[in-house]
Amino acid sequence: MASQLLKGKKGIIFGALDERSIAWKTALAAYAEGAQIVLTNAPIALRMGKINELSKLCGDAPVIPADATSLPDLENLYQKSMEAFGGKVDFVLHSIGMSPNVRKSIEYTDTNYENFHKTLDISGLSLHRVLQTAMKLDALNEWSSVVALSYIAAQRTFPGYNDMADAKALLESITRSFGYYYGFKKKVRVNTVSQSPTVTTAGSGVSGFDVFLSYAEKMSPLGNASADDCANFCVTLFSDYTRMITMQNLFHDGGFSMTGVSGAIVEDEQKAAAQG
Ligand SMILES: NC(=O)c1ccc[n+]([C@@H]2O[C@H](COP(=O)([O-])OP(=O)(O)OC[C@H]3O[C@@H](n4cnc5c(N)ncnc54)[C@H](O)[C@@H]3O)[C@@H](O)[C@H]2O)c1
Repeated sequence: MASQLLKGKKGIIFGALDERSIAWKTALAAYAEGAQIVLTNAPIALRMGKINELSKLCGDAPVIPADATSLPDLENLYQKSMEAFGGKVDFVLHSIGMSPNVRKSIEYTDTNYENFHKTLDISGLSLHRVLQTAMKLDALNEWSSVVALSYIAAQRTFPGYNDMADAKALLESITRSFGYYYGFKKKVRVNTVSQSPTVTTAGSGVSGFDVFLSYAEKMSPLGNASADDCANFCVTLFSDYTRMITMQNLFHDGGFSMTGVSGAIVEDEQKAAAQG
């Protein structure tokens, strides 16, 4: 399906841990569409992950470590990326999420605040750092596109999603706020994609994830959006065909967000009632 939609464009992809990662699929899709890529992840994830495999699949894309909560790391990332590209950046994928409270199965109502701060810093505030550093270094071309990945728990409560829900609400708010300033200053657009539950390392860490997945599948007229579908959608957002979209949270969820209840869920309830 590749049609060189991103020919000549240069992008930084955060968050490709392994082949299930949404960022991994997005890097492959963007490369297939003609983009030049720099891959980045937190140093520890680079040591544990398989990013060098991905780099090879993306034309020996440079791999530059950066903890997304560290301003010096981000400065280094943009500087090295611009050197590698021989120019400024056209798109950025922020595909970063981590909650120590989720990892340690600490209930939302019994939260550990130090962990909570880390969740907000890594999963939400990091987008501000990524944007602010880019703006200070003037690292993005005019009409660049920055996309971050979100989840519907920013709007509605999903027990088990824990403090990640608050981090996603922050992420979406930063998208609107920074999108305003970057739009006026440089015509840079900033959006979030609110993705269906997807089997990945981060996704599977959420308690009750299997139920999220099957419930969302039954509730979504088109079914759950896969990571590959998400990657393709991100590619369109990096492209010039979506250049007037900014400050939006775009649901990429097979219709889940607009469905009150589905026939499949009603049938399940009827069966359960019949069984007494
Ligand atoms: N999987 C889902 O169900 C789902 C649904 C909606 C949105 N999302 C979002 O998609 C994004 C990508 O997650 P994924 O599902 O592909 O899982 P993933 O585990 O493959 O990716 C998460 C990435 O975040 C990186 N990361 C963590 N801390 C970091 C830090 N300090 N600095 C830089 N990178 C850091 C990890 O190394 C990892 O590569 C996340 O924002 C996640 O919340 C996931």
